[in-house]
Amino acid sequence: MKKPIVIANWKATKTIKETVEWIKNTKSDLEKSNDADIIICPPFPSLSIAASLLKDTNVKVGAQDVSKFKKGAYTGEITAEMLDGLVEYCIIGHSERRKHFGETDDDVIEKVKNLLEYSITPILCVSNLDQLDSYLERGEIVVDSAEKIIFVYEPPDAISGGGAYKPNSLEDANEKAGNIGEKIGKKVTTLYGGSINPDNAPSFFSKENIDGGLIGQASTDPKTFLEIINSTYNPT
Ligand code: PGA
Repeated sequence: MKKPIVIANWKATKTIKETVEWIKNTKSDLEKSNDADIIICPPFPSLSIAASLLKDTNVKVGAQDVSKFKKGAYTGEITAEMLDGLVEYCIIGHSERRKHFGETDDDVIEKVKNLLEYSITPILCVSNLDQLDSYLERGEIVVDSAEKIIFVYEPPDAISGGGAYKPNSLEDANEKAGNIGEKIGKKVTTLYGGSINPDNAPSFFSKENIDGGLIGQASTDPKTFLEIINSTYNPT
């Protein structure tokens, strides 16, 4: 099996104290692990402490969103310039941002541009192929910079909720992940997201077109997250 990229998306969970506990509980195991390229995406208030605790390790830190604006009178916004030097990655276009905060495809494209300006890798969520078409219609940035973007095929219906896992079918996830690269016309890094857990992670990550996963619920518990990391790849 190829070495997967495994991204923890904690969403709106974990205080600074809980972030420190999570990292203390996992750090030595994650450091020893050569089983995955690991990126942890805590909420904004915890980014600084997470980045400092994980400095000089193989574990990278990402944000969960960024402003579509660059700088100025936008109370409450976190710009790409503010994330510069703090994180190497940033999730954007997550379906929860669209659903709860009315984020549009135009917004997402602005965010891609802002992140790339600071060499922060966008982790770009794609809910379906029509949405990808819409991104592609909005300019050349996604195609031109495709090798600097991590794409995530994440159908909103597959996102876990209330303790329940409802993953997409393996075949559909693999096909749609492959379609993303085909539509872009380049070989791209594409993950799958939606109800990944320790039981199903190896099946998803072994699929031809799936390079790893974006993990919500199962990433919040250190033991479960480590099980996912340890279950996926056995270098020989
Ligand atoms: P889930 O969330 O793993 O809890 O389904 C994934 C995501 O929304 O990024």
